[in-house]
Amino acid sequence: MSDARLLASASPPLSGVARLPGDKSIGHRALIGAALAEGETRILGLSGAVDVGRTLSCLRALGVPIVDEGAAGLRVTGQGPRGLGGPPVRLACGDSGTTMRLLAGVLAGQDRAFSLEADPGLAARPMARVVEPLQAMGARIACRDGRPPIAGEGGGLAGHEHRLAQASAQVGSALLLAGLNAAGPTTVRYPAPVRDHTERLLAAMGAPLRWDGTISRLEGPVGGLFPPEGGLLRVPGDLSGAAFLLAAAALLPGSVIRLEGVGLNPGRTGLLDILEAMGAPVRIEAWRVEGGEPVGDLVMAAPTAGLRAVTVGGALVPRAIDELPLLAVLATQAAGTTRLTDAAELRVKETDRLQVMAENLRRLGADIRVLPDGWEIRGPTPLSGALLDGEGDHRMVMALAVAGLVARGSTVVPGAERVADSFPGFAETLAGLGAAISCC
Ligand code: S3P
Repeated sequence: MSDARLLASASPPLSGVARLPGDKSIGHRALIGAALAEGETRILGLSGAVDVGRTLSCLRALGVPIVDEGAAGLRVTGQGPRGLGGPPVRLACGDSGTTMRLLAGVLAGQDRAFSLEADPGLAARPMARVVEPLQAMGARIACRDGRPPIAGEGGGLAGHEHRLAQASAQVGSALLLAGLNAAGPTTVRYPAPVRDHTERLLAAMGAPLRWDGTISRLEGPVGGLFPPEGGLLRVPGDLSGAAFLLAAAALLPGSVIRLEGVGLNPGRTGLLDILEAMGAPVRIEAWRVEGGEPVGDLVMAAPTAGLRAVTVGGALVPRAIDELPLLAVLATQAAGTTRLTDAAELRVKETDRLQVMAENLRRLGADIRVLPDGWEIRGPTPLSGALLDGEGDHRMVMALAVAGLVARGSTVVPGAERVADSFPGFAETLAGLGAAISCC
């Protein structure tokens, strides 16, 4: 691993227009959907994020022809819903949890032996949550002490009614993807609404799928999946990437920024609700639907009256799950006590985000207490630059760099190379809006 660092310091107001890389969650699914379709699909706007690249290279290793045609997008020759069978295969998922969990669902229904392998970061993350419900569908797969690798042999699945313990889109998606090749209906009951990218995509490809806020039901086995809308899949800009820019603009008085073409799936917009409750609403312009997903241009003008503390818990948590590190940063500058609860899932992300965030924000001078399932943060607190450590977790590295933009002096965050896991060009995009951030 290289030791590139992000260097951030107290910044002037942000201004200007930016576009985001393609949405990471949708990118994984677009590749998988296209691989399982009958015929050719062109994917436009796919992110260059390392994690999405893992799904792409795994699909190539499974025999799916994928050609990068530059500005014309990626051309994927689909193999049909049951067309990924073949000789035994070992697939490197890197540190991409979405790659591993979604492909576990896909491969559980294919005629082939497989092993899904992890780099050290992913090797510590929980996999029983996806392996056990797949086993309940008859999958002959296993993981090691609840962790990667996931290995087994696909085929012989039957539909099942699943009640998920976690509000996890990755797990629900894996089960629906397995359900494509299962005899009978596969039902997923989520404890709270989550991003429904998989449901939208499979339905747009002709799968017999119905869903509402918390129940998805697919009638399997599915005879054919078809490339949507004239063979074109457009990936919108990544709201989880936009979140760092929105938070930075909300924190720097006088900022006005506009982010174009950002995905607004209702299972992902929790941070927008949180910003509004903190007194920093995001204006949505040019609302439209692209590739079955809501998309808009986002305008953030920093609040003149400053930020207010907020209470976050319950169903809002899964809708903001990847953006909660930014809630902590915002809360250090908000008047009052911010409380997050029901967010123990943050402990099993790329790092224990509750702990790592608290340790680092304290180094900057913040008043933050870790709860079993959240934080209590008192603000506003003046922050002073420091040497931080996001422990190689892309979202922690970026959130801590945003904190550095409101700290006196300089903040150094090692692990700059990890931002490309989800947001290639993060520092350049932020610097393009006027932030004092660079990579060194
Ligand atoms: C994702 C779902 C969420 C999220 C992750 C991406 C997805 O994970 O944190 O970054 O693309 O489905 P969980 O399903 O574990 O909540």
